[in-house]
Amino acid sequence: AMIGYELSNGTVTGTLALSVFTAVLGSFQFGYNIGVINAPQKIIEADYNATWVHRYGEPIPSSTLTTLWSLSVAIFSIGGMISSFCVGVISEWLGRLYCFLWFVILFFPGLASGLVPMYVGEIAPTSLRGALGTLHQLAIVTGILIAQVLGLESLLGSEELWPVLMGVTVLPTVLQMVLLPFCPESPRFLYIIRSQEHHAKSGLRRLTGRQDVGDMLAEMKEEKRRMDMERKVSIAELFRSPMYRQPIIIAILLQLSQQLSGVNAIFYYSTSIFQKAGVQSPVYATIGAGVVNCAFTVVSLFLVERTGRRTLHMLGLSGMCGCAVVMTMALALLDSVPWMSYISMLAIFGFVAFFEVGPGPIPWFFVAELFSQGPRPAAMAVAGFANWTANFIIGFAFQYVAELCGPYVFLIFAALLLFFLIFTFFRVPETRGKTFDQISNTFSKHSPAMIDMDLDMELGKHSTELDYLGEEGS
Ligand code: GLC
Repeated sequence: AMIGYELSNGTVTGTLALSVFTAVLGSFQFGYNIGVINAPQKIIEADYNATWVHRYGEPIPSSTLTTLWSLSVAIFSIGGMISSFCVGVISEWLGRLYCFLWFVILFFPGLASGLVPMYVGEIAPTSLRGALGTLHQLAIVTGILIAQVLGLESLLGSEELWPVLMGVTVLPTVLQMVLLPFCPESPRFLYIIRSQEHHAKSGLRRLTGRQDVGDMLAEMKEEKRRMDMERKVSIAELFRSPMYRQPIIIAILLQLSQQLSGVNAIFYYSTSIFQKAGVQSPVYATIGAGVVNCAFTVVSLFLVERTGRRTLHMLGLSGMCGCAVVMTMALALLDSVPWMSYISMLAIFGFVAFFEVGPGPIPWFFVAELFSQGPRPAAMAVAGFANWTANFIIGFAFQYVAELCGPYVFLIFAALLLFFLIFTFFRVPETRGKTFDQISNTFSKHSPAMIDMDLDMELGKHSTELDYLGEEGS
């Protein structure tokens, strides 16, 4: 029998709020680094040129400048690739909290991508897991927006001050370092991995504000009992074992759907995209995109526990696909119809808005939800690595592809979005309102139909959102 759906009464205690806040400071820093490179492109490129002239006595060739700039934009995702890959091992070894501390001290940006959703997912009550998980994304988009605003030439985006603009990223990190010692270690980690029942209990009490945490402990016990039966899961096993193969493929494809949607083409290059589209003040349009980005993350925050992950993700992908097509038409018509520049700006805003409805926030915490305690760290590592690799590819390649394809570049994203939409429709399950244990049961090799019925009775819901498994496993 499944234990403990109504475990959580969903109260947000002071400790829970503080812990989530402290964790997502890492996400804020991640967002800042994404957004910071956009507005000062021209100014930094001018600096590169000046250095080149100084050294070689001639202006920098435009292809060299493209390469240099693409690298400047994308190089930070390499750090993300490396650190997200290490998150699995290190967070098991040191614990979630000390892992945070070390990564913070070492200034690794990519830590936020795996560790934050994992820690937040583990300390959140079931009924708030999606909403609190979305805060990770909210912090990222806030970071992006603040970086865009500070990047204004009148603030820090000027010729003299842009190095300061890049340096501001240490501030949230310092704050995080100060606050971390006041946060509890993840009780799931303490109990299930370390078998420290006593510490886990006191952590749970602090996080929930309740004296009686027996029900939650019972749920963890059940998960631990299962986990003790399975061996520790390595990354290679994730792919080999038939039990994990399906969820890991889903996890990777969700990450790819987030990045290959092309959203970071906007967040890295929107200023020059707007410029080419004939928009009057491209830097302000970029900030506009940042504002839309934040607003719709908030919308998603309120929808995600009501509408469910799957529906929102599909809604977002289809909306983005539509906007990409509109944008292409607008760019193609720009020469003959000048007001198309407004349409392309609106299309970009729409693109970003739909992104935040689903593909932005959902993949991050979804991976943490798809796996039980045993395989979770390895899965987060694989997912994070996939995400950062795709991020690097977009950051690095976009300018070249855009030069090649001209106004049609977004059609590539439209095609990819369509593919991911179809994949989500056929393969991605709903996880809303289920415990980790119930979710991983979804993928075990027993008849999915039976599990669905079980869950229905447990959750007292109708089967519509639960019979997603389709043909798999029958
Ligand atoms: C997600 C992505 C990140 C992107 C951001 C945009 O967090 O992981 O790469 O820049 O959304 O809002």
